[in-house]
Amino acid sequence: MARTCVGIVGAGPAGLVLAHLLADQGVESVVLERQSRSHVERRVRAGLLEHRTVELLEAHGLAERLRARGQVHRGVELRFDGRRHRIAYADLYGGRHMVVYAQQELVADLIRLWIARGGGIAFEAERVTLHGLEGERPEIRYAVGGRGERLACDFVAGCDGFHGVSRGSIPAGALTVHDQRLPFAWVGVLAEVAPSTDEIIYANHARGFAGHMLRSSTVSRFYLQTEPDDPIESWPDERIWAELQRRLATSDGWKLREGPVLEKNVTDMRSFVVEPMQFGRLFLAGDAAHIVPPTGAKGLNLAVADARVLADAIVRQVRASDSSGLAAYSDTCLRRVWRVQEFSSWMTWLVHRIPDGPGADLRRRLQRAQLEYLCASPAAGASFAENYVGIADV
Ligand code: APR
Repeated sequence: MARTCVGIVGAGPAGLVLAHLLADQGVESVVLERQSRSHVERRVRAGLLEHRTVELLEAHGLAERLRARGQVHRGVELRFDGRRHRIAYADLYGGRHMVVYAQQELVADLIRLWIARGGGIAFEAERVTLHGLEGERPEIRYAVGGRGERLACDFVAGCDGFHGVSRGSIPAGALTVHDQRLPFAWVGVLAEVAPSTDEIIYANHARGFAGHMLRSSTVSRFYLQTEPDDPIESWPDERIWAELQRRLATSDGWKLREGPVLEKNVTDMRSFVVEPMQFGRLFLAGDAAHIVPPTGAKGLNLAVADARVLADAIVRQVRASDSSGLAAYSDTCLRRVWRVQEFSSWMTWLVHRIPDGPGADLRRRLQRAQLEYLCASPAAGASFAENYVGIADV
């Protein structure tokens, strides 16, 4: 049976960053990924990196391509009533900026660098199961190409996302689950068209939210609010562009460029957290433990923040027999997770059309007051900036 110190399930941002941070401190790990390498390197996901995320990647030599190709952002645009309002978050938060860099590009960088440094990784690892998590020697069983494999570890890192196996390996009674579906969903669109803006746009419109995000000089990402469970078939390309044109329209003649739709899908929104993020020698990190509503693009950054805390804790245990970091792992991560849940939820309710129903009119007026306050008050802008760019310590 193969042996390693840390068995990492999942080659997303959480698992790969963890692997690199551990290796930098001489701690060995093996990454097991269900999908093929080309699949994970092409999967379209988030693309907005917090200042702290970039700093961490840079400090570990993982940001060379990101620095060369990512776009630095210092402000965001809020649109409502056909008017544009810029929030200069970098000015409001000590010059800290964000970087637009697609998640699949980051994942591709992390995989390439991991393989280059001789790191262990198995793609297309099927039927992963976790055993002996409460004992001293947990074991991961899986199959590659139909052949069964066993990996003995000291620790297991469950970095396998929301639909992974790790969280499900914990007995139900051991976790408290917070799970709320929001009354919103997004039609996510990837289009082959140059962006019509230099900065990300969040538009609050009576027909629903519209977002114009950035990817590259030739590809742009858009989001449109819809109802949960709306099938993507009800969004032909012509309807997507017509809705984007309406919801993003301004009174100053701004123009939205259109182009071929490359990919589109509907994503529901939820706030989800399990507590604690640990069971015996299994530690959950990233989407395996929590999902935030996507407004503000915090999921990837939270995953990286978990990986950093977990790497520090494991290194302390392995190198100094100091278990305090691992004992505090869940509480340390959850403080940030809840802060980010609150911000992501607040921002989601700020920019989406409040669904019809009792109290909707009042809530819409309150929402408008909040938007106006945020755009007019430097104090409100500074609080937004701190959370949006990434709060330092919670
Ligand atoms: N066995 C092995 N690997 C698995 C399994 C399994 N049973 N189930 C899932 N995986 C893999 C997935 O294929 C994926 O590559 O685990 C990885 C999890 O990666 P992410 O879902 O990207 O999760 P995480 O690393 O926590 O990053 C969070 O991802 O969901 C997005 O936008 C979100 O930015 C956020 C980020």
